[in-house]
Amino acid sequence: MKLARFSRIGFILAAAGSAVGLGNIWKFPYITGENGGGAFVFVYLITVMIIGFSLMIAEMMIGYLGRRDSVSNFEDLAPRHKNFWKYGGFMSLAGLIIMIFYSPVIGWTFHFILLSLGSLPSSIELAEKSFTEFISIDLGSQLFYHTLVFIFVTAVVARGIKGGIEKLNFLLMPVLIITISGMFFYATTLAGFTQAWDFMFSSDWSKVTSASLVTAVGHAFFTLSLGMATILTYSASLPKDSNLVRSSLIIIALDTGIALLAGLTLFTFLYEYGAELSAGPGLVFISLPTVFYEMGFLGNIFAFVFFVALASAGLTSAVSLVEPIIQYLIDRFSLSRLKASLASGLFFYLFGIVAILSISKEYGHYFTFGSKNFFDWADFMTASVMLPMGGLIMAVFVGHVIEKERVASLLKTQLGMIYPLWYFSLRYIVPVALFVVMLNLVGILEL
Ligand code: PHE
Repeated sequence: MKLARFSRIGFILAAAGSAVGLGNIWKFPYITGENGGGAFVFVYLITVMIIGFSLMIAEMMIGYLGRRDSVSNFEDLAPRHKNFWKYGGFMSLAGLIIMIFYSPVIGWTFHFILLSLGSLPSSIELAEKSFTEFISIDLGSQLFYHTLVFIFVTAVVARGIKGGIEKLNFLLMPVLIITISGMFFYATTLAGFTQAWDFMFSSDWSKVTSASLVTAVGHAFFTLSLGMATILTYSASLPKDSNLVRSSLIIIALDTGIALLAGLTLFTFLYEYGAELSAGPGLVFISLPTVFYEMGFLGNIFAFVFFVALASAGLTSAVSLVEPIIQYLIDRFSLSRLKASLASGLFFYLFGIVAILSISKEYGHYFTFGSKNFFDWADFMTASVMLPMGGLIMAVFVGHVIEKERVASLLKTQLGMIYPLWYFSLRYIVPVALFVVMLNLVGILEL
């Protein structure tokens, strides 16, 4: 099947739109807070630079050379090992599993956009109470917002790469970049900025455990949208003669830049108004709204802008989470785009409802298995298990399965001097690092 092509800038925006998501603005600050700041940020940055960079190029290459869906690409590029690469389908499934918790969280951002127009909570107790009630008791509202996300995302992907995904990113990415940079510049004028800087960049290694290492590596994958065929699927629609290295660098720079800006801005606000830093997933939904309250009327504007940015970031990532499986269904099962979009949409919609129930007070215990509820399992299984595993598979595939000459003829000139370094890192450093992370996981799971 011939795929519609992105324009050059359309691809960069869409891939950056995929990378910059709730992961950057919601997850990164709270896991940084939970893991004590500096050292964690350091591990995350190193992972992004070495593993992230090597793998982004590898994943792009599989899509760019294969030009088809996630499974066919592996099969076409390695005809002798066909069966093994059926794994590509499992990879695309990770996106739908992420959507199980991603869609409800985008729903929360919709709720907070509305809240920011009215009165914000005046104390941390009130904020906590209203957020907890919203996610654990007010099932109706959550379902309503989750339904909106389902309709929106399905309608966009049903319009395809050009008419849906590229357009959405052209619209929302500028909104996101302008709002986040604007808030960051304001944050630099506040006294709390220096404390925020210290918190994020001065390392305290005593707080780093093997669990936080796994979280940092998992997050690097999650935030760069690696290991689950999103980048691969988008790259199958790259225009001819694209420079994969330059594109990867721009996407990584945008993603990391926005995570750092968002983190610094948030921690500045929190320090400035004395709010709790390690508040977990409630950080932007509990601590931040009280900070906005303290700012007075300006705070309402900030709150509105912030949650619009968060929703935009979430939506541009959401479409990229479902697109791989859609292309797979179209390519392999000859489904129409509309049917494929509806099928994928319904999958995350229905399981998303289970995720919402699993964090509710009334039904939570039915959907809690072991130490985690269904919502947290979906997060853990994807970010910490499936994506690093997908990354490992892709590194081995490009590093050891595709012929050396083929890789070299595409990338040698683009990577220039660092080509041997990149190839070495992909063949040895990335697989070993990911293997160690996987081993750590076993330990963490047994706890
Ligand atoms: N990168 C997105 C984020 O940071 C999430 C995502 C993961 C999107 C994997 C696509 C694929 O929120």
